[in-house]
Amino acid sequence: MKNIDSRGHVTGQSIYIDDIPEQQGTLHGAVVVSPVAHGIIRNIDYTKAESTSGVVRIVTAADIPGENQIGSIVQDEQLFADPEIHFKGQPVALILANDYDTAWEAAGKVVFDIEEKQPVTSPREAAKNKSFLVPPRTFRQGDVTSAFKECEYIVKGSASSAGQEHLYLETQGVYTLPSENGNIKVFSSTQGPTAVQRITGHVLGCPMHKIEVDVNRLGGGFGGKEDQATPWAVMASLGTFLTHKAVKIILPRHIDLMITGKRHPYEYDFTIGLDKSLKIIAFEADYFQNGGAATDLSPAILERTLFHITNAYYIPNVRGTVYSCRTNLPPNTAFRGFGAPQGMFLMETAIAKAAEAIGVKADAIQKNNLIRKGETFPYGQSPDEDNAVKVWKQFDEKFGIEKIKESVKTYNAQNRLTKKGFALMPICFGISFTNQSMNQARALVHIYQDGSIGISTGAVEMGQGVNTKMMQVAAQVLSVNVERVKIETTNTTRVSNTSPTAASSGADLNGKALEIACNKLKERLILVAAKLLNTEADSIIIENEKVINSGKVSSLTWEELVMTAHLERVGLTENGHYATPEIHFDKNLEKGHPFAYHVFGMAGITAVVDILRGTYEIENVDIVHDFGKSMNETIDHGQVEGAVVQGIGWMTIEDLVFDEKGSFLSNSLSTYKVPDIYSAPKEIRISDLKSEGNERAILKSKAVGEPPFNYGIGAFFAIQDAMRAFRENYELNTSAPITHEKVLLGLYK
Ligand code: MTE
Ligand code: HPA
Ligand code: MOS
Repeated sequence: MKNIDSRGHVTGQSIYIDDIPEQQGTLHGAVVVSPVAHGIIRNIDYTKAESTSGVVRIVTAADIPGENQIGSIVQDEQLFADPEIHFKGQPVALILANDYDTAWEAAGKVVFDIEEKQPVTSPREAAKNKSFLVPPRTFRQGDVTSAFKECEYIVKGSASSAGQEHLYLETQGVYTLPSENGNIKVFSSTQGPTAVQRITGHVLGCPMHKIEVDVNRLGGGFGGKEDQATPWAVMASLGTFLTHKAVKIILPRHIDLMITGKRHPYEYDFTIGLDKSLKIIAFEADYFQNGGAATDLSPAILERTLFHITNAYYIPNVRGTVYSCRTNLPPNTAFRGFGAPQGMFLMETAIAKAAEAIGVKADAIQKNNLIRKGETFPYGQSPDEDNAVKVWKQFDEKFGIEKIKESVKTYNAQNRLTKKGFALMPICFGISFTNQSMNQARALVHIYQDGSIGISTGAVEMGQGVNTKMMQVAAQVLSVNVERVKIETTNTTRVSNTSPTAASSGADLNGKALEIACNKLKERLILVAAKLLNTEADSIIIENEKVINSGKVSSLTWEELVMTAHLERVGLTENGHYATPEIHFDKNLEKGHPFAYHVFGMAGITAVVDILRGTYEIENVDIVHDFGKSMNETIDHGQVEGAVVQGIGWMTIEDLVFDEKGSFLSNSLSTYKVPDIYSAPKEIRISDLKSEGNERAILKSKAVGEPPFNYGIGAFFAIQDAMRAFRENYELNTSAPITHEKVLLGLYK
C-alpha cells in the first residue's frame, strides 16, 4: 500500500498548522527571547514593543495563573525565564499582535537590562564543577579491572561527537482556539499530545479535561517535537486563556534554529582491551553528555546511551558511566536514536582505534565479537535471535565483503587524486521505551452503519507513515478493503494518556492496541452473522468483506452484516488497550529485560575523498536490514534511506558551532550544512534480512524509525579509510563530524 499522504504532500494539499484556516480575530504570537546565555534579568523595557501599532498584549510570567513550569521529567524549566536566564534564546515573554510581522517586529524592540554571568558550554567543565542535570549512572557486566590484566592489547583514547539540528521542514508551531467555559482547543505540531495537554493544564492551573489537543500531522519531528513542541503550545494556550481569542505561533526558521534544543553533543574517554584472538574482553568508558540548561529528556537519553554502549557485540566485561552535564546551551533533546547513536559511535571508535593500534582492519574485530543468543548485553538481556551473525552472513553473500575490499584496492592503485575507503557498520537497537510505563497505547474504532470505519490511535503522523500502517492493521484484522478505513486525527479526547510517538514504537504500540479493538469488533460481528445464518460462531469467518460459513461463501455482505448488527443494537465502537508484556528493568541493579525485541542490521559504506580539496562523496551504502516481516516495504525502505542520509549528515557535514558565550554561530542554512542531493549517497541498496519476524512487533513487522540512523556512523570510518589510502600513517580523528575541513587538514598534517 502506498503512503496515504503521498498525493497530498506532492500536490501541496496536506494540512500543517499554518494551513489551518484562521478564525476571525486570530492573534499572532511572537516569542521574546534572551539575548545572552547566562544572567539575571534586572529589568525589561517593553514600552517600544507595546506602543507598536497592532500589538494587543504582552504576556509575561506575571500572567501565569498556574505554575511557571514546563519540565517533564524534572521540574527545572520555566515557561518564561524569571528572573534567571540559563541559555541564549530562552523565552521571556510572548507578544500578541494582529498579524505575524508586527508581532515579530515588536519582539525585536524589547530592551533587556541583564546582569550577565559567565556561561558554561563544555560538558567536561560542567562535570568538573559537578554540575549535573541528574546523578550519573553506570552499567556493569563482569569485572573490567581484572579483565584488563588478561588483555593482549589495551587501547585508550578520547572522542567527541557533535549535536545535530533536527531541521524538520515545518518549524515549531501551534494554533489555539477558545471554546466555551474556558475550554481550549490546541492544534499542535507535537509528537506528544498528552504532554502538551498535561503541561498546559499545569501552567494554566486547570484540569487536563479543559485542554483538547489535536494533531493532524507534523512536517517532520525526528524527536525535536517529543518535548519541545510543548512550550509554544502552552504559550498560545495562555494567550487564548487571557484574551479569549484564537492564537497562532509559528517560529521563523532562524528563531527555531537558535532557541530549540538539538541532539546532545557528547565527549568520551574509553579503554578497550582485546585478547590475542581479537575478542574484546573488556571495555570501559565515560560519557559526558552536554545536556544544556534544563533537564528535558536528558535522563532518558542518558539511559538509552547506556543500553547501546556495546552496539551489536558481546563484551563480557564492561563498565560505562554517563554524566548528564548542565551547560548554558538550549536544553538538548530527543533526536532519532535518542542517545543510542552516541553509544554506538564510541564503540565503533574504540574498535577502529584498536584496529589501528594492532594493525588489522576493523571488520576483523567487528565480525569476531557479534552478539549471539544466550550472551547478554550489560543490562542483562539477551537477544532473542542470532540476527547479528545472520546479518553479517547475508551481507557477505549478497554484497561480498572481500570483493568490495578488492575493488577499493584496485581503485586506489589506479587513482592518485581521489582515494576510496570502505567501512562496515553493524547495528543492534533495542525496541521499547526505556521507561517501562510508557510502553502502552490505546485505540478507538467506530464501524459506521454503512460499513465504513473510523480509527483513532495515539500515534502521531510525522512523515514516517504510521497512519498508513494503522489503516493496514485495521483493514487486515477486519478483513475489509482499505478504502473503507479512515484514519482520524490524533486527539486527546478520543485517545487519552498517550505516550509520545517516539522510540520507534509508534506503529507497534498503537498498532497492537488497534488490533485488539478490531478483533473485539470482529468477534461481535461473527456472533451476529452466526445468528443470521443459523449456525455456530466457530464455523464463521469474515474474509475480504465476505462472510464464510463452514468454508462456503454466504450471500451476506459486509454492509448487510454491519447494518444488521446495528439494528440488533450491537455496539459497533471499541477501545483497545495494549501494554507490552514481559518487559521490566531494575534501576538499582541496572539489570532487567527492558526491550520487547532488538532490530539488527549492517551497512557497508564506500566513500571517495578528493585529495586536493579534502571534499568527499559517499559512493554507496549497502545494507542488510532486519525488518522482521515488513508490512509495508515502500514505507520501511523509505525510512531506512532517510535515516541513513540523516545519520551520514550527523557524522560528516553537519557542524553545530557555539562560541564560548553560548551563541549558536552556524545558525543558518548557509553555515549549517545539511545533506542534499549531492552529499547523499549515490546509491543505497537495501536487502531485507530473511527472517520470521517477531511476535512482539505489529504483524511481525519490526520497528524501523530509528535503528537505521546508526548506519550513517560507518561514513565516518569509510572517509578516514580513504584518507589512509593516501597517507599510510594517518591517525584516526575521533572527533565527529569529519567535515571537509578536517579531512583536508588530516591529509597533510
Ligand atoms: N520519519 C519521518 N519522515 N519524519 C520524522 O519525523 N521521526 C523518526 C522516525 N522516522 C521521523 C521519521 C523518529 S525520531 C522516530 S522515534 C520514529 O520515526 C517515530 O515513529 P514510529 O514510532 O511510528 O516509527
Ligand atoms: N526513546 C524515545 N523517547 C523516549 C524514550 C525512549 O526510550 N523514553 C522516553 N522518551
Ligand atoms: Mo524519536 S528520537 O524517539 O522521537
